Parts: sequence; structure tokens; C-alpha cells
Amino acid sequence: MEKITSAQAYALLVDGVIENENDLKKSANKWILHCIYTAIAAKRIAERLQLDGDYAMALGYVHDIGRKIDHFNHPLEGYKYLMERGYEDLAGICLTHSFIDNDITMTAGGGPDGEKYTKINAFLKNHSPTIYDNIVQMCDLFCLETGFTTVEKRLLDITKRKGVFPNSLDHYHKTIELKKRLEREMGCDLYELFPEISKEDLENVMTDRQELLKMISGSK
Ligand SMILES: [Fe+2]
Repeated sequence: MEKITSAQAYALLVDGVIENENDLKKSANKWILHCIYTAIAAKRIAERLQLDGDYAMALGYVHDIGRKIDHFNHPLEGYKYLMERGYEDLAGICLTHSFIDNDITMTAGGGPDGEKYTKINAFLKNHSPTIYDNIVQMCDLFCLETGFTTVEKRLLDITKRKGVFPNSLDHYHKTIELKKRLEREMGCDLYELFPEISKEDLENVMTDRQELLKMISGSK
């Protein structure tokens, strides 16, 4: 099958969900806006790295596509949805996007358990992370449904909503490590590449980080 374009990936994402602009404003569809911002961010980072920006954008659009079927099981549902339609080169992102470097323990908000853990881990163990996996993993950690923010604010928000888990501190360090790795490769600060991030969010980076670390440093 020919490589899917970002426009085709977008069409696939909104198929059956968004019929007109008003549908994008519905709170049940907020996750679609998160996918749109993730796609824009992934393209921008990929282009900065002189990679295929359109492919990165396509991956950003579909990474959460499983939410069409079931929010709770969206990684596995998304993978199934794309595989059934023959989009093998996109399907993996549904399983890899929440796990930094495709490591099942490097996830925010707890992570999968039981059968879900077994199925996702079986996939991750057989798929080394690509730079595109890493880009979408990064984007998922600073793209909201309202636009771009800092990873510090995003992680603090996730921690306040979902709580502290035994891997929270390790995941935080891994997130910062991934950010630094990409910044080194891009030759610029991540937040420089996203001037849309509000001044307030940027000014609060240190206090958000301190508050987050205070919450999670007892997590081990
Ligand atoms: Fe996401």
C-alpha cells in the first residue's frame, strides 16, 4: 500500500465523528483537537530534523484514533482499526505513543495492566522506537486540546488528575531526557520551536516542575 498522506490520515481520523465545524466544538470531540495539535507539532519537529513532515503529521493525527471506539482501550482499538484498513505503517503509533522509547514502564498516569499490558508489551518488545515514535511521544506530552503548553505543565496536570504511581518519577526523568535528546538533534530549545506556548506557561516552568517533583518524588 502506498504511504498515506496527512490529508488522508486526517480524513480517517474525523470519519464518522466530525461532519461540520460545530462538531469540533463539542466537548466529546475535544480529543480530536488534541490530535490536530499533536499532528501540527509532530510535523514541525520532523521538518526541523529534516525528516518527512507529512508522515509525522499523519502519525500525529491518528495516534489516538482508537478513541473513536473506546477511550479506555484506545491504544489497542486504534491499532486494530488501522490494521483492519490496511494502514500498517500508521497502526503502531497507537501502541507506542504513550510509552517513551517503546518502554512499557515509561508512561504517565499508571499504565496498562492485565491482558492489556500483555498485548501492548508484546508489540513494544518487538518494535524498537523510531525517531517518528519519539516525536509523537514527545508531542503527546505538550499538546492539549487547546494548543501547546510546557511538558512541566502537562505532567503536573496529568499527575493532579490521575495521581502518583510507582513509575511517576522515572517517567518524569525520561520525559526530560527525551526532550533534551530531541533538542540536541534539532539544535534548538523545544519551546523556541513553539512560540504559541503562552508566556504564563513558560514563566511557570520552574514552579510547575517544583510542584510536580514534590508530588512524585516519593513515588519510588
Ligand atoms: Fe494523545
